[in-house]
Amino acid sequence: MLAAYLGSMGEAVRDAVKIDYTDIPYFPTSTVPGHRGRLIFGYVSDVPVICMQGRFHYYEGYPLSKCVMPVRLMKLLGVTHLIASNAAGGLNENYKVGDVMLQKDHLNLMGFAGNNPLRGPNEARFGPRFFAMTNAYDRSILKGIKGIVSELGMQDRVQEGVYTCMGGPNYETVAELRALKMMGIDAVGMSTVHEVTAARHCGMKCFAFSLITNICSVDYDCDIEANGDEVLDVGKSKEEDLKVFVEHVVGFIGKN
Ligand code: 6GU
Repeated sequence: MLAAYLGSMGEAVRDAVKIDYTDIPYFPTSTVPGHRGRLIFGYVSDVPVICMQGRFHYYEGYPLSKCVMPVRLMKLLGVTHLIASNAAGGLNENYKVGDVMLQKDHLNLMGFAGNNPLRGPNEARFGPRFFAMTNAYDRSILKGIKGIVSELGMQDRVQEGVYTCMGGPNYETVAELRALKMMGIDAVGMSTVHEVTAARHCGMKCFAFSLITNICSVDYDCDIEANGDEVLDVGKSKEEDLKVFVEHVVGFIGKN
């Protein structure tokens, strides 16, 4: 079974059973526009999935441990693989709005300062205290997905790079974007890093991708500004393409 953090996938789920977060005891509730707030159980490409429509962000006020609680719930329900998607700003100069960036790796920036979803006593039923993150984004899955990208003829709009998560809710200053760029970041968002950390802790294999919704300029003379409406609009315009892509991704993971 496979879990997906993919708002737009809801309609692609066959034999769907939908449960609102508000109907699940102790489940956090989603406060973000465009994030609906329900779990969908069913099948995508004949693979059993749980789809999260709406996730929990640090900027909403939840501690990271609460943001990743759904990952652990999915583990307890038998999930073996996690697919995460996000909207992100593109720092890499080769990226264009609407590109898909396959996540090769991430930089846990909040973790640099000790803010980690697994901080606190280890929950040994999920995994060990100390664990590796060197294959955080499963290399053999990534290789297979790159093959799918070519088969679908998407290679001109698909990139591969390093993601980081900022706490948000504001987008970055120019100085911050410059610093991120120097650290080797290709795309910046506000999610995924802690979810993948929790998923790796409990042994799930992970695949993630960013939809580049805006370009981050590191030039003080450039007056392009990120805004939330643009992020949502680009997401909406790519919904159908991403649905087809994810159906193939799920099919591939289900067979391998
Ligand atoms: Cl520019 N920054 C962050 N942190 N998240 C984003 C974004 C930028 N664009 C979309 N999501």
